[in-house]
Amino acid sequence: MASIIRVDQIAACEGQEVTVQGWVYNRTDKGKLVFLLVRDGSGFVQCVAFKGDLDAALFDRLVRLPQESSVIVTGPVRADKRAPGVPGGYEIGVKQIEIVQEAADDYPMALKEHGVDFALDHRHLWIRMPSQWAILRIRSTVIAAIREWFDTHGFINMDTPILTPAACEGTTTLFETPYFDEGLAYLAQSGQLYNEADIMAFGKVYCFGPTFRAEKSKTRRHLTEFWMVEPEIAFCDLDQLMEIEEQFVTHIVKRVLRERLPELKSLGRDITRLEKIEPPFPRISYDDAAKILQEAYDATDDPEKKELLKFEWGMDFGAPHETELTSRFDKPLLVYGYPTAVKAFYMEPWPGRPEVCKSVDLLAPEGYGEIIGGSERMSSHDLLLQRLHEHQLPEEAFKWYLDLRKYGSVPHSGFGMGVERTVAWLCGIEHIREAIAYPRTIKRVYP
Ligand code: 4AD
Ligand code: MG
Repeated sequence: MASIIRVDQIAACEGQEVTVQGWVYNRTDKGKLVFLLVRDGSGFVQCVAFKGDLDAALFDRLVRLPQESSVIVTGPVRADKRAPGVPGGYEIGVKQIEIVQEAADDYPMALKEHGVDFALDHRHLWIRMPSQWAILRIRSTVIAAIREWFDTHGFINMDTPILTPAACEGTTTLFETPYFDEGLAYLAQSGQLYNEADIMAFGKVYCFGPTFRAEKSKTRRHLTEFWMVEPEIAFCDLDQLMEIEEQFVTHIVKRVLRERLPELKSLGRDITRLEKIEPPFPRISYDDAAKILQEAYDATDDPEKKELLKFEWGMDFGAPHETELTSRFDKPLLVYGYPTAVKAFYMEPWPGRPEVCKSVDLLAPEGYGEIIGGSERMSSHDLLLQRLHEHQLPEEAFKWYLDLRKYGSVPHSGFGMGVERTVAWLCGIEHIREAIAYPRTIKRVYP
């Protein structure tokens, strides 16, 4: 009996008779030959059926077999450079084929161009297509690499709550839900505040889960539900944090290059851009970034570009600013020391410059913009209390958080990395909605 293999292992099976279980992604007939491009979840492989090898009635069904029919194919593996597929370069000569189900012949995601809204309405089927399949395979590896790095660097995984009593990242993007007799609860915008409690027990921790922002912004970088990994480290300052970030991001890129090269290639990704990612990453202060933007503004005569680049000290960066800054570097860029006013309430002030805070954003190359936001956290109880009031946050809900500054406060830092933005960068795709299986945006909760 032929052994059942997965297509991503096919190179090791050359010359052997194997069985592949999957779905017909594409079919072409050439007289006595039918070429089936079969996908099995791990890859796409060409299966060639020759009329003389099969029962006449069965061959007849193959000629008409609709896309997405499920099949079990058995036959020998042959190397052939021309054979399409992922990884490609191999085909199976069909000795036997069982048609598990002949799919209905009105497949909505048939092989032609579809509008984005149509594709998103059929996301449950769209994920079968090679590009979407490749992106989500890469996502899975990114997630594995994230956990691998923290698990091998002394971090404890802590799961922080999703139902929370207060805002972490600003009150304007909170999803609220009635919560029994307790009034309102909010979907977590970040697990950071709990992580800060956790490090005082465990030293180094990370949480990793779904994160919710009622973002009104309809951009290609915003989802209302996304996945964020958030490490937090006790006795860690801003410089040490930046070192961790560059080691961590490099690890993810390297593992993706090692394990997902066929998928990256199938997406047409320029691999050489990713191969350059190595520590150290360039670091610039917000002040210097503001100067660079001013220079770029002065240097252009294009009124449209001028409009986009308009910037003054104190503003947060928009996408065009981030793109301009990162266009000067091959590697991710660390920008530190943002104005206190554009950042969250919990950031440690810059010594001697209270208008600046010890924050750092990591901006991905090639115009992908911020994928990590982080900072050193405020360690003084009294200053934190004052900040909570300035931000009109309810002191009652933050009582436990203030406790952390009463009982053994230490300098500490952490960051949050968005999985979808990272995946979009690594895959080189336009919009982060393709970097998650079922995207949630202001206009979409289906399917
Ligand atoms: O910069 P943010 O808002 O930082 C925090 O939430 C901190 N509490 C994290 C921490 O220090 N523990 O978000 C961090 C990252 C962003 O850089 C981005 O990658 C991602 O989360 N992100 C989003 N991704 C998709 N859609 C959105 N609406 C996002 N908002 C943030
Ligand atoms: Mg941010």
